[in-house]
Amino acid sequence: NSIIVLISGNGSNLQALIDAAKDSTLNATITLVVSNKKSAYGLVRAAEAGIPTLVLTLKEYIDIGKSRVDYDIALAKKIKELNPDLLVLAGWMHILSKEFIDYFPEQIINLHPALPGQFDGAHAIERAYEAFKRGEITETGVMVHKVIPEVDKGEPLLVERVPILESDTLEDLEARIHSVEHRLIVQAVIKFFKLVAF
Ligand code: GRF
Repeated sequence: NSIIVLISGNGSNLQALIDAAKDSTLNATITLVVSNKKSAYGLVRAAEAGIPTLVLTLKEYIDIGKSRVDYDIALAKKIKELNPDLLVLAGWMHILSKEFIDYFPEQIINLHPALPGQFDGAHAIERAYEAFKRGEITETGVMVHKVIPEVDKGEPLLVERVPILESDTLEDLEARIHSVEHRLIVQAVIKFFKLVAF
């Protein structure tokens, strides 16, 4: 059960996977952590856990006149060399093209801090909070879904609803969502390997 985790920032969800693999809650090995940002703190988390890292930035491709698809294909080829069973997008903030996804059919899952179809795309938590402030919703959620070319549209693997409280600040909601994410991402990987096994 080999996993490659793709990150762009803090890597708190990566950390949840590292911890679960270490204490054997998760029977899997993280063979590589990929980041599209040199400054991603998740790279430090990976290094501290002895996990190899790869940084590939879109900027270095665009700067030499290459395209997003060139970047995606180069990234896919590097990842394919390790032949992982599963790719986990955990705080990965780069929309992957069909060209990339086709290298790993049914093998990519993404963590998104919203309910299916609610707040697809970036800044989902803030957008849910603003909808709450406008009285439009009283809850939001977290999901882990299969990755397809349409952003955040793939079939959900796990969904968990998250209440929004009257007293909540945006920070309160973010903290509640992140704690759900850290649990859900591990459960989703466990579920994925159970489904694949059979
Ligand atoms: C999380 O809400 C994740 O779902 C979103 O980015 C946030 C930070 O994730 N895509 P992490 O701490 O970098 O794992």
